[in-house]
Order: sequence, then structure tokens, then C-alpha cells
Amino acid sequence: MSNRPAPRPLAHLACFALLLLAAGCDRDAPAASTAAASPAAQDTQADLIARGEYLVRVTGCNDCHTPGYAEQQGNVDQALWLTGSPLGYRGPWGTTYATNLRLRLADMDEAQWLAFSGSLRTRPIMPDFALRAMSEDDRRAMFHFIKSLGPGGEPAPAYLPPGQAPQPPYFELVVPTGAPATVGAP
Ligand code: HEC
Repeated sequence: MSNRPAPRPLAHLACFALLLLAAGCDRDAPAASTAAASPAAQDTQADLIARGEYLVRVTGCNDCHTPGYAEQQGNVDQALWLTGSPLGYRGPWGTTYATNLRLRLADMDEAQWLAFSGSLRTRPIMPDFALRAMSEDDRRAMFHFIKSLGPGGEPAPAYLPPGQAPQPPYFELVVPTGAPATVGAP
């Protein structure tokens, strides 16, 4: 009995030391947060931005909203991300251009973005249904990432109504003559 190892008391001691450390951190937090967010809050914001970046990257926003993104296999400097594109999408709806989201979000706060993106209705070829289907948490993360990039670039070209020919470059959806009006329409 006397030669039995005693790991448990040691483990308790270690836990106690960790608790003391944690308590120490807590005590320091208010002082640190007077000038900036507390370390924990900064982590959360950084996590949110990283998640937003990931979502923007994998859900395809850059494919259309960043000039040259697909053509360059995604190797585009972040300074250009989401600054809109001069590539037109022409169809029965007219010609649309992927918006400069950095400028579009510049005057929005989080609540406005959540309301806007959660009920977004656009013309093609924007997959507005995909954005509407995203969870609020995902859309919040995207918002914080886009805001972290700051406003940048110029507005994308203005929408052109059907019958008005765009300048190249543009994609064109050609529908069969006599197709129902709903083909390719919003
Ligand atoms: C296939 C191309 C494409 C993809 C992918 C795409 N967009 Fe778009 N987006 C567009 C186009 C084109 C418009 C302009 C639609 C219009 O003029 O009605 C647009 C418009 C928007 C608008 C509306 C802007 C406004 O002022 O009305 C938002 C917001 C938006 N996109 C966000 C996103 C986000 C976020 C993603 C990624 C989840 C994304 N888009 C993916 C092409 C795309």
C-alpha cells in the first residue's frame, strides 16, 4: 500500500494550478479590454472572419464576384476579392454583372446584412436561393469577412435590360425560339 503510485493527488494539484491560472486570466481581462476586445473576444472575431473566408472560398462567391477568379484557378490576391466583375451574364433577363460586394456592404451593419441576404431576390445568374438557404451563422461569418476586407474597387457595370447589347466579355444563354417565358427568367 505504501509503495502505490499516487498520480491522483498530483493530478489534482495540476488542475488546481490551471484553475489559478485561469482565474488570473479572468482578473486581467477587464484591464486589457478597455482599449481593445479581450483576448477571448479577439479569438472569436478572428474565428468568425476565418470561417467567413472559408465560406466565401468554397461556396463560389468569388467565382463570379471576383474578376478573373475562375480563370486564374482562384489565385487572385485578396485585395481584389469580391470587388465585382465586368463579365456580363446575358439571357432573357437582360445582362447582369456580379456586384461589388465590398462596396455593397460598406454601409450595412450586421443586422441589415442578415435581413438583406436572408430574403435576397436577384436576377440570374446569382444563386440567390443558395444565399437564402444559408444559416444565419454562416451569413454572419461571411459578413464579418467581407467587412474585414474593407471597401475596394469600382462598382460593377450597370444592369442592361433585354434587347440592349452588352460589350464583351459576356456569357450568353440562348433559349429555343418559342420557349416558355419562364426559361431562364427570374
Ligand atoms: C454564378 C455567378 C454568381 C455566384 C456564384 C454568386 N453570385 Fe452574387 N451575384 C451575381 C450576379 C450576376 C449578381 C447581380 C444580379 C442582378 O443584377 O440582379 C449578383 C448579386 C448578388 C447580391 C445582390 C447585390 C445587390 O445589391 O442586389 C449579393 C448580396 C450577392 N450577389 C452575394 C453573393 C454571395 C455571398 C455569393 C456566394 C455565396 C454569391 N453572390 C455568388 C453572380 C453570382
